[in-house]
Amino acid sequence: MSSYDVIIIGSGPGGYVAAIRCAQLGMNTAIIEKYNTLGGTCLNVGCIPSKALLDSSEHFHNAAHSFSEHGIELTGLKANIKQMIQRKNDVVSQTCSGVKFLMDKNKIDVHTGVGSFVDKNTVKVTAADGTSNNINGKNIIIATGSKPNFFPGMEPDKKRIITSTEALNLQEIPKKMIVIGAGVIGLELGSVYGRLGTEIEVVEFSPTILPTMDASIGKEFAKILKKEGFKFQLEHRVQKVENKGKSVVLTALNKKGEEVTFEADYCLVAVGRKAYTDGLGLENVGLVANNRGQVEVNDHLQTVVPNIYAIGDVVRGAMLAHKAEEEGVFIAEQLAGQKPHMNYNLIPGVVYTWPEIAAVGKTEEELKAAGVEYKIGNFPIKALGRARASMDTAGFIKILADKTTDEVLGVHMIAARAADLIMEAVVAMEYRASAEDIARICHPHPTYSEGMKEAAMAATENRAMHI
Ligand code: FAD
Ligand code: NAI
Repeated sequence: MSSYDVIIIGSGPGGYVAAIRCAQLGMNTAIIEKYNTLGGTCLNVGCIPSKALLDSSEHFHNAAHSFSEHGIELTGLKANIKQMIQRKNDVVSQTCSGVKFLMDKNKIDVHTGVGSFVDKNTVKVTAADGTSNNINGKNIIIATGSKPNFFPGMEPDKKRIITSTEALNLQEIPKKMIVIGAGVIGLELGSVYGRLGTEIEVVEFSPTILPTMDASIGKEFAKILKKEGFKFQLEHRVQKVENKGKSVVLTALNKKGEEVTFEADYCLVAVGRKAYTDGLGLENVGLVANNRGQVEVNDHLQTVVPNIYAIGDVVRGAMLAHKAEEEGVFIAEQLAGQKPHMNYNLIPGVVYTWPEIAAVGKTEEELKAAGVEYKIGNFPIKALGRARASMDTAGFIKILADKTTDEVLGVHMIAARAADLIMEAVVAMEYRASAEDIARICHPHPTYSEGMKEAAMAATENRAMHI
């Protein structure tokens, strides 16, 4: 039986990054992945393919809607969905091969098959052909990730009632798509097809879109998306979704309790994801998934079995690739005897629509609930020269700072390039900067980053200059 210092089950961004860091720190490392390609949800059916399609559809949308104003004339513009999907597949396959290259470079053994616990130091790897072998590890990291969630009545049949995985592989541009859930997946993948001409109708349980973000974001972004043609059915309780052959029919109760129906070619179910531990044999080591399906861990990401750890989507916290990666590094360094640190308050969240949405730290609602006195600096993107030059004028940057100390407590933005802009806020907050610190930093002109400076000036003494 092969023996390792560390065995990692699952090769998503949590697992493969943990493996690299373990190997860098001199540990003899193995990774087990049930699929033939490495990279997990993120690389195969998550972050990378969705961003590839978002980028392609954004090019198309710009060509169709803003090129002419820029003085670029096109005739015969047409979206070729099959080519978009093919390019996306190529990007995925290159990225997954990159992970295999990194495993080889770091001398990490890759075992292909389903990993399941035999005992606390032994994992059985069962290949697709049914053959199996056992491997032994001093420490084992569970990094098995998550799967799409759904509720009774909306079970995906993966044909017309689909999850994000199928939505990333459609071979036609639907005429109409119902999206259940105005969260990150619903709005990103809704945007992909909306930009290609699909009519998007979002059915959401909450009274706002993106309900977990700062309330100002959902309010403003709903207006932006409505202009793009999105329809929102908020406060709707989905009863059932039926595949009618060439269409789907969704039945819901509206906020008055009346039954309403919506019909479309496809229904995308995007109501969250659930931790995945099927077939892992947790029971063989005395572990029990909690009622959310997650593996319970302490602050050291350690389960109740001292040599078994868990990271990423399968444990509590944001289901984000970069959170999983940081936890992978955290475990590896801890196993090497180091004292790593993770700041869960400063994990940025990004929605890759256009404009992009990004946030870090506390929302206004969280500060209110915690009784923290705060001040707000708000700056509209349309006041930036750069935004007018590029015709991306929608959105705002909002900085929340402590009323007494001026420390930045939260930053929330809708802006072109917000995904990159948010890092200024993350760095500032990691160093516990005040709003005035940001306001006094020289920002390059003309850039969107000037919006951060202006919002910081607005928070400092209400002295933003360009509004
Ligand atoms: P996963 O990536 O889910 O990987 C787990 C791996 O474990 C899988 O490969 C699985 O096959 C394997 N596995 C499971 N059980 C076993 C077993 N018993 N034996 C062997 N292997 C097993 N996050 C972002 O930060 N940014 C984004 O832009 C973003 N976009 C997304 C878009 C979509 C459509 C989706 C669905 C998700 C997106 N996410 C995004 C979330 C991100 O993909 C996850 O947070 C991330 O992949 C979690 O990493 P992980 O390592 O915990 O698990
Ligand atoms: P989500 O949690 O972001 O949104 C789910 C939405 O569905 C919420 O608005 C919720 O109120 C709504 N909802 C729940 N039950 C409902 C019901 N019965 N009827 C109608 N609406 C209902 O989950 P989503 O979009 O599925 O994404 C899952 C996770 O994947 C995200 O939480 C995120 O962690 C990750 N992800 C991250 C991305 C990014 O970082 N850009 C992109 C895509 C996914």
